[in-house]
Amino acid sequence: MKLHYITMIQKEQEAFINWDFKEADTKEFTHGLHTYPAMMIPQIARRLIYLYGKEAKTLLDPFCGSGTSIVEASLIPKIKEAYGFDLNPLAVLISKVKSTPLNVEDLEIRLKDILKSKEHNGVPKFKNIEFWFKPTVIEKLATIKTAINKIENKDIRDFFLIAFSETVRNVSNTRNSEFKLYRMEKDKLEKYNPDVFKEFEKITLKNIRGMEEYSKVRTETDIRLHNLSSMNDLPIRAESIDIIVTSPPYGDSKTTVAYGQFSRLALQWLDYEDVADLDNKLLGGKATKELEVKINSPTLKEIIKKIGEIDKKRAKEVLSFYEDFDKCVIQLDRVMAKKGYVCFVVGNRTVKGINIPTDKIMTEMFKARGKYDYITTHLRAIPNKRMPSLNSPSNKVGEKVTTMCNEFIFVLQKL
Ligand SMILES: C[S@@+](CC[C@H](N)C(=O)[O-])C[C@H]1O[C@@H](n2cnc3c(N)ncnc32)[C@H](O)[C@@H]1O
Repeated sequence: MKLHYITMIQKEQEAFINWDFKEADTKEFTHGLHTYPAMMIPQIARRLIYLYGKEAKTLLDPFCGSGTSIVEASLIPKIKEAYGFDLNPLAVLISKVKSTPLNVEDLEIRLKDILKSKEHNGVPKFKNIEFWFKPTVIEKLATIKTAINKIENKDIRDFFLIAFSETVRNVSNTRNSEFKLYRMEKDKLEKYNPDVFKEFEKITLKNIRGMEEYSKVRTETDIRLHNLSSMNDLPIRAESIDIIVTSPPYGDSKTTVAYGQFSRLALQWLDYEDVADLDNKLLGGKATKELEVKINSPTLKEIIKKIGEIDKKRAKEVLSFYEDFDKCVIQLDRVMAKKGYVCFVVGNRTVKGINIPTDKIMTEMFKARGKYDYITTHLRAIPNKRMPSLNSPSNKVGEKVTTMCNEFIFVLQKL
């Protein structure tokens, strides 16, 4: 079975046409266990590892989100260690579950027990719980949670907590098609009566099938995940990482993708504290006071100047994101091994009508902090990604500007 996976990769690469992967199954193995904003598709991580990680023994994803690169690394026998970091605890939990093989029969037995349960030992008391969930939904979610918490084996418990987290999202009063927290319209909400146990069962059965597929091809790769900011000292030896495969945020969470808002209700149900201001802690969460660009990137300087001429506040928001990102670059440069590859999947955004070439700015920032050869940029047309391809960056009601339709995959090599 393990050979089968390697053959599959080989075949995929032989059939290589472009980076769009329009028809690709993006939910194979454990990749479909939980939704997450701005997920990388597995085929991209797979191809990057195939092209630039032939000799790699260690992989790092400093913004691992739901763990796409980590899962792919765990399928490659040559990769001995894969590190993932994310400041969002839900992301780390999802990544852990997706990369921990489990016995499917154990899971099926446990599921039956959970579905039979009728009592709970109290509902959580977080703010606005009744605004986001109907009373009967709260009772049922609490019953499922109580049953899951009785499971002694932590890996099995975490597996069910992920299915529970996805259930929380699906049975909440939110408009599920959006990552930000918006409540359903009143008339829709009145008729809304989700079957919580059915939803949980459906999600878990799907996840068990994914886990079955994954456990057959999982290798011995050692996975190390940390709920830490990549701006801080990373617990990794200097010059030890052979390949980075990541998709970082491309702007602050408030004006681009709200990872914190997306995760908040699930985190509250899972008893995590201090989750309300997660978005302020992610890259670019706090605006800078000065508009002076100290980072050595000519493109960033030009962009900040242009945006600043139109709107100083917006320019500061953009700058604060890059100032935070620069702290990550210092860390990443320290841990990268010589001859190792840095592969970043990024989107370019438009602020105040000005296009921000994220790939170019980030490339310049790496070169300013260390010695890197620019290898290439692969272009990918985004077919139907659930992220804001349209928004109103000028904040004028009704004005829509296309902000993203291509992804840029830039590759650098450390000298
Ligand atoms: C584009 S998403 C990654 C998606 C991931 N590739 C996947 O397939 O699910 C970017 C991630 O960066 C995380 N992030 C933002 N600021 C961070 C920081 N300072 N340190 C670590 N992670 C951070 C966010 O929480 C988010 O999960």
